[in-house]
Amino acid sequence: MARLIELTLNGRRRVDAVPDNLLLLDYLREQAGLTGTKTGCDGGECGACTVLVDDLPRLACLTLAATVSGRRIDSIEALGEAGALSAVQRGFHEKLGSQCGYCTPGFVMACAGLLRRNPCPSAAEIRAALGSNICRCTGYVKIIEAVEFASDLLAQGGTAP
Ligand code: FES
Ligand code: FES
Repeated sequence: MARLIELTLNGRRRVDAVPDNLLLLDYLREQAGLTGTKTGCDGGECGACTVLVDDLPRLACLTLAATVSGRRIDSIEALGEAGALSAVQRGFHEKLGSQCGYCTPGFVMACAGLLRRNPCPSAAEIRAALGSNICRCTGYVKIIEAVEFASDLLAQGGTAP
């Protein structure tokens, strides 16, 4: 069975016919052509596929596309504008929060969601918000520094998370 879904994807309204069993991850990558969201474990363990649904992080590999009809979805492609990095992207760049980069889109989206909900999180709140994301390269310290850098940028009235 297929059904029509209507959603706002990265700020744009879309209507698509999707099979009932299509994962949001596959909808984004294969139907919407947005390959920034990564497939890692494909089983809810690594966070590489994290996107935002109404500003809350969601694992796209465990979410059926049909269940997000009517919602606002943001993938990594939503961040930054007119050639300028978002605050979180700048944080990852400045603080070297990315090495191989495979986990980075998922981390960046989890961080962006956190800062949209709480622009000035404590270190403990940052760690808690990133608890579903795994990185095999950075050791996490640089990632936490990246979020703190982004939070400082927001406090200075800088770009969006
Ligand atoms: S690919 Fe979704 S949690 Fe790993
Ligand atoms: S930067 Fe390589 S897994 Fe995170």
